[in-house]
Amino acid sequence: MPREMHLVGYCCATPTWHNNGSWRHFESDGVDALNPERYETIARILEHGKFDGMFLVDVLTLFDTYAGTFEANLREPGQTWLLEPMQLLSAIARVTKNLGLAATMSTSLYHPYHIARAFATLDHISGGRAGWNVVTSSVDTEAQNFGMDQLPKATERYDRADEVLEAAQGLWNSWDDGALILDRKNGVYADPSKVHYVNYEGKYVKTRGPLTTPRSPQTSPVIMQAGSSERGRQFAGRWAEMIFTLHTDKKNMQDFLADIKGRVSNSGRDPSHCAVLPAVDIVIGETESIAREKADYINSLVSPRLGIAEISNSVGVDLSTYPVDEPLEGLDLKQGPKGILDVILQGAKGKTLWDAGRAWGISQMTPQLIGTPTMIADYMQDYFEANACDGFIVCPSVSPTAYSQFVASVVPLLQKRGIYRKDYTGRTFRENLRS
Ligand SMILES: Cc1cc2nc3c(=O)[nH]c(=O)nc-3n(C[C@H](O)[C@H](O)[C@H](O)COP(=O)(O)O)c2cc1C
Repeated sequence: MPREMHLVGYCCATPTWHNNGSWRHFESDGVDALNPERYETIARILEHGKFDGMFLVDVLTLFDTYAGTFEANLREPGQTWLLEPMQLLSAIARVTKNLGLAATMSTSLYHPYHIARAFATLDHISGGRAGWNVVTSSVDTEAQNFGMDQLPKATERYDRADEVLEAAQGLWNSWDDGALILDRKNGVYADPSKVHYVNYEGKYVKTRGPLTTPRSPQTSPVIMQAGSSERGRQFAGRWAEMIFTLHTDKKNMQDFLADIKGRVSNSGRDPSHCAVLPAVDIVIGETESIAREKADYINSLVSPRLGIAEISNSVGVDLSTYPVDEPLEGLDLKQGPKGILDVILQGAKGKTLWDAGRAWGISQMTPQLIGTPTMIADYMQDYFEANACDGFIVCPSVSPTAYSQFVASVVPLLQKRGIYRKDYTGRTFRENLRS
């Protein structure tokens, strides 16, 4: 069968996604960010477009890196984290049938028993459609919400993440297939010989098991990851079934994909079982000039100051005291998560901090695809066929209209070209991802 691309809808339970001004757009559902129907509507659109999944971002702090206050992140809403993703996905599971449902959960701040139980439950509720975006968290204020003064260093966080995955895998497998007998006549509900203690003991994590939730349809959720540091890639090679990235340039993406596939293979796994998906922001118009006009309008709503605050959050450095009119690469930005910093610098060469704030506010340095449906399909096909990616994380410039326009106009073109599924063939998230 010819290789087909995979699509995942990027979603935040917040007023905006990447574009920090888009909630002000007349088509935006951003003011409805607390209403579960908003997310159910998006999920239905994505499922109509045969997307592999929908992915919900999460961060466990109200950011106040910029100027030591959360004022900049609240007065104008950036990705101001609101709803807890797992509970939201449970609601979405009830109004969808095929769409993979993935949420972020931190290995540094949640215990593997909690993680394993939550995802096993979502997998049951959704009939095998759960996905876990594994993050190690990156900001000390997240740790402070969980009783710690600061996060451990990145390498230690990944060492712990390895253990959390090992422990969670043990818990998910603590119920054998066929443990549930459900024999009313003889009064036997489950076979105790098919349920096992785990007794996992690592350096950071310890759990006894068994899980209180029986084995779920997929056994374990689809493991997703977005680390781009050396240690992050090493972790991905061992565990990730889907990797998303912010790389902008085709050659960079080809190198990244080749590197990741090599690591997956070195871990004894099939490289085709790990999909590499870069994020793209979409603005669609009937003609190229209409699309550009639309993008200009959407981008005019952006707040560069909030963009700088958002960079501060991502890098973990208060940029409020830096001069806004000097080139970014001249500034000393050595702290913060390496992957994100690399991406900021890659997309911001020669730009001042104010320019970078505006660029970040527009799309968080994600390539903005502006054009007709054909132009967008051409770009996707080109990157896909050049082995720069296995598909895309689709980010709407304005939610939900960018999603619905994409599904109505770009998806049929990809299907006609034979590079995207016409229907779901798998029963579970993992089966669709591997088909
Ligand atoms: C598309 C994308 C989505 C991400 N989503 C989250 C998220 O929901 N929560 C989070 O804490 N980190 C998120 N991250 C950050 C990554 O988990 C990771 O920490 C970051 O890319 C730095 O990589 P490193 O950990 O290898 O240094 C995301 C990164 C990317 C590129």
